[in-house]
Amino acid sequence: AGGPSLAERVVAWQRQHGRHALPWQQTRDPYRVWLSEIMLQQTQVSTVLGYYERFLERFPDVAALAAAPIDDVLALWAGLGYYSRARNLHRCAQAVVADHGGAFPHNAQTLATLPGIGRSTAAAIAAFCFDERVAILDGNVKRVLTRALGFGDDLAVARHEKQLWALAEGLLPDSEGMVAYTQGLMDLGATLCSQRSPRCNACPLGGECVAKQQGRPEDYPVKTRK
Ligand code: ADE
Repeated sequence: AGGPSLAERVVAWQRQHGRHALPWQQTRDPYRVWLSEIMLQQTQVSTVLGYYERFLERFPDVAALAAAPIDDVLALWAGLGYYSRARNLHRCAQAVVADHGGAFPHNAQTLATLPGIGRSTAAAIAAFCFDERVAILDGNVKRVLTRALGFGDDLAVARHEKQLWALAEGLLPDSEGMVAYTQGLMDLGATLCSQRSPRCNACPLGGECVAKQQGRPEDYPVKTRK
């Protein structure tokens, strides 16, 4: 009891130790943030950097992307893999132009109706661009939160995954902390809270992490099928 909350710990850690200089962190333009989130879904930061700059040079805004031939989009994507991402990217740009007056929606719920934007990506865009209080829950963040909470139920079971989403929503900071919190969870998952050898001694959650208390962080998340 007492002491900083999980959100306060993550926010303070991100502000001191997290990444701040990545190009998509220098903007609140949802087009640019969206593009970075799609590229980063299955590709590491170092690879994304060059693709991101080239893509924005050729398609500086959502209208330019929507108007382009799909073959031009695929050509700029070549090498990144998972080409359905590029096809959805193009479809999404066209939907923003056709159905949303050329501007990305300003809330996660509406963002999640667009092609290629799932619940967690919608939340990341809404948190980064609009400070919306919505939870992200990608693979890395599932690992961080299941460990922190000692959530041992099988995430392959839809009901349990829903429970984790609800718990994640209960941990959110005030809106002014949402950018640092969202980036901090991603950064923790990508760095300290790794799958096989988590560096618990450097983690801002410290003794508040149930998995660390149990001495068994590698046991989380529990995910049978897949
Ligand atoms: N992976 C997914 N989103 C990211 C982000 N915003 N920064 C760094 N890595 C990410």
